[in-house]
Amino acid sequence: MMFEGLGTQAISLLQTRMRCLRARPLKHPSITMQISETIADIRQSRWANPNLSWGLVPTMGFLHAGHLSLVERARQENDRVGVSIFVNPTQFNEAKDLEVYPRDMARDLTLLKEAGVDLVWTPEPETVYPPNYQTHVEVEEVTQLLEGAARPGHFRGVTTVVAKLFNVFQPNRAYFGQKDAQQVAVIKQMVRDLNVNLDVVVCPIARDHDGLALSSRNSNLSPEAREQATCLYRALTAAQTTFAQGERNAEAIHLTIIDLIASTPLARLDYVSVANPVTLIELETITDQALLSMAVFVDNTRLIDNMIIGVVRK
Ligand code: PAJ
Repeated sequence: MMFEGLGTQAISLLQTRMRCLRARPLKHPSITMQISETIADIRQSRWANPNLSWGLVPTMGFLHAGHLSLVERARQENDRVGVSIFVNPTQFNEAKDLEVYPRDMARDLTLLKEAGVDLVWTPEPETVYPPNYQTHVEVEEVTQLLEGAARPGHFRGVTTVVAKLFNVFQPNRAYFGQKDAQQVAVIKQMVRDLNVNLDVVVCPIARDHDGLALSSRNSNLSPEAREQATCLYRALTAAQTTFAQGERNAEAIHLTIIDLIASTPLARLDYVSVANPVTLIELETITDQALLSMAVFVDNTRLIDNMIIGVVRK
């Protein structure tokens, strides 16, 4: 597996942890990982010692090495790490997608314990959305494009649940993956607009050995589709090379991606975008930094991937 931006030591540690349901002493297993369904328990643990810093990793479970790379980063930067596992019904447009969303709580909890997590919230839907629930958080503009256009209401569900997770855990830092680039842009916008008192930390995309971004959806791919699914990363890399050779016209970058996807028999491009990484507004010319993002159906599985090109900002 490849983990952009992680050192070789961190990579091998993660790989070990993913293989690790075998009995082998790990470096930082949590001796007392607390698992709780209630908000009162989470608050009590979080504030037991107000001097300790907390990192929160929100997830919907069915964890893979991408999620665990967020946990690892949170461990490095905080005294304590909290993780939420909640398949959030309000961010699914289709009831069927919610129904078939993969779940394996026992395995997730084992992985989190091995990864040294201190506190896990596993709420029931009625705890997060009790009867007579009426309040939603809506970020207006950056939610309307790309994934938001394909999945109306999706980001309203994401921002609502993430705002609630922030209020329940009150972490110092919250960790999100660059894999979901628009989710990052939307949450950062919400945090700015609502003056939420925490740092949003964005972690690099964890990739498989051939470049495919790790995702729970990859398990839906047939062996042939899995092989061809590398077209997303290959297209992004080709676009990056075009940019490095001096191309600044967004349309030309689009064409590089379109050609590569078109030459992949099982792939069908849903969208490709060359946009401002903060506003997600499409660019005509790349002057500074651009977010290349795309959604591709490989067979019937919709995959997303992205890459930032241009000047790297800290
Ligand atoms: P989920 O899809 O479970 O992802 C949890 C976190 O893991 C997200 O921040 C996501 O970007 C990150 N992640 C997933 N695959 C990754 C990869 N290959 N490399 C790096 N990070 C990766 O995203 C959600 O859940 C939900 O929308 C949530 C924020 C929890 C709100 O319900």
